[in-house]
Amino acid sequence: MSLPDGPRTPPTLQVIQWLARPLSFMRNCRDRYGDCFTTHLGARMSPAVVFSNPQALQIILANDDSKEFDAPGERNVIFEPLLGAQSVIGLTGDRHRRMRQLMMPPFHGERMRSYGHLIAQITDEVMRGCIVGKAFSLRNRMQAISMRVILKAVFGLEEGSRYNEMARMLGSLLDQMSNRLTVSVLYFPVLRRNLGPLSPWGNFVRRRERIDRLIYDEIAERRMRPKASRDDILTLLMSARDEAGEALTDVELRDELMTLLVAGHETTATALTWALYWIHKFPKVYERVLAELQGVALSDTSALSRLPYLNAVCCETLRIYPVGMLTFPRVTTSPVELGGHSLEPGTIVIGSIYLTHRRKEIYPDPDRFRPERFLERRFSPYEYLPFGGGARRCIGMAFAQFEMKLVISRILSSVELALVDKRSVPCRTRHL
Ligand code: HEM
Repeated sequence: MSLPDGPRTPPTLQVIQWLARPLSFMRNCRDRYGDCFTTHLGARMSPAVVFSNPQALQIILANDDSKEFDAPGERNVIFEPLLGAQSVIGLTGDRHRRMRQLMMPPFHGERMRSYGHLIAQITDEVMRGCIVGKAFSLRNRMQAISMRVILKAVFGLEEGSRYNEMARMLGSLLDQMSNRLTVSVLYFPVLRRNLGPLSPWGNFVRRRERIDRLIYDEIAERRMRPKASRDDILTLLMSARDEAGEALTDVELRDELMTLLVAGHETTATALTWALYWIHKFPKVYERVLAELQGVALSDTSALSRLPYLNAVCCETLRIYPVGMLTFPRVTTSPVELGGHSLEPGTIVIGSIYLTHRRKEIYPDPDRFRPERFLERRFSPYEYLPFGGGARRCIGMAFAQFEMKLVISRILSSVELALVDKRSVPCRTRHL
């Protein structure tokens, strides 16, 4: 099969380069091979053709559930050890569509807005722990906020020993997943050897088992003592029935909960950290956000989420360093002409969100943080796509944007922060 040109280094080396320095790996490929190139990004994504041209992305994402393309979950197999075989991320076709339909409603509209008060309360609690005049890690605080939001909104966990243990175990599991050695284990299945609790895989399995036990205990307790007043996402998933009247099994519930936790926690925490960094790096941005906030009551979460400049700051944050750098893989199911190449059926295609967001002709001076660009023009969903698109577009998109705006406005209105170190912070990756 003839594929677009790309790096000639051995596939395993390409995966290592991608894991070690993903931004420069993508930029180097673009500089050398242009708009689309073939590369190797790990199990079941090898070889994959990477696109960053909005026209090509539109063809892929607007048709990823058609005769020409598919969005198969089997390609996302690297997440299976963490999320499980029933995760929406690993499902395909009708099962994938049905699971999305079940999971989407709480992340939109009134249901989503009903979590506004919770988000505000959690932000205040976490920020109250900061001591005036003493430096602290913003990322740690943002992780604490997004973890609590997920545990309460998704799991409906009340504070107590299970909540505390879940937060601690999940935090440490996800920290472990940001370690290159551990993440390599997901990319290279041959390394999955349980050589005791000190080995990366053994340690991972032990923590995962502990978290699973906590989740299954919570599900069992809910089944025994259902409460009509609950409005969390676990309750909703437990009461959902498919066309045949079947409820989700415990394993399905566990896998979807784990998916929402993993997909929603680190991503939102990272986006919030960058947004607050940019706001405090540029005094003009800070003053403008603050001036905009002055006219709105903090309790009016709908008005806060519609503020144009705050929205532009959040958009620019996710443009310059999109937390998810790539879309999930899509696969051609018939011969397709794309970006000047004839692709045969079965070709894996991936959108590089990062490279699309750095295109000069769409975003002049692309490496500069400039929120105004989002006030000056509208970008198409294929020019600006921090949440992907098509059949696998992020389920938490509206929720994450809502949470970002609420947390930022709450923090800026209650405390005065300053960067300890004025030097620019380089982007580093945490792999999952
Ligand atoms: C700033 C925060 C976030 C960013 C940048 C982000 C980004 C993304 C991206 C790029 C994708 C892949 C889309 C594609 O292939 O077309 C995705 C998928 C997904 N995201 Fe998010 N996400 C964020 C927050 C969240 C939150 C808060 C949740 C839920 C609590 C969530 C749940 C999911 C799920 C379940 C999928 C898989 C959808 C599927 O396979 O059908 N994400 N996200």
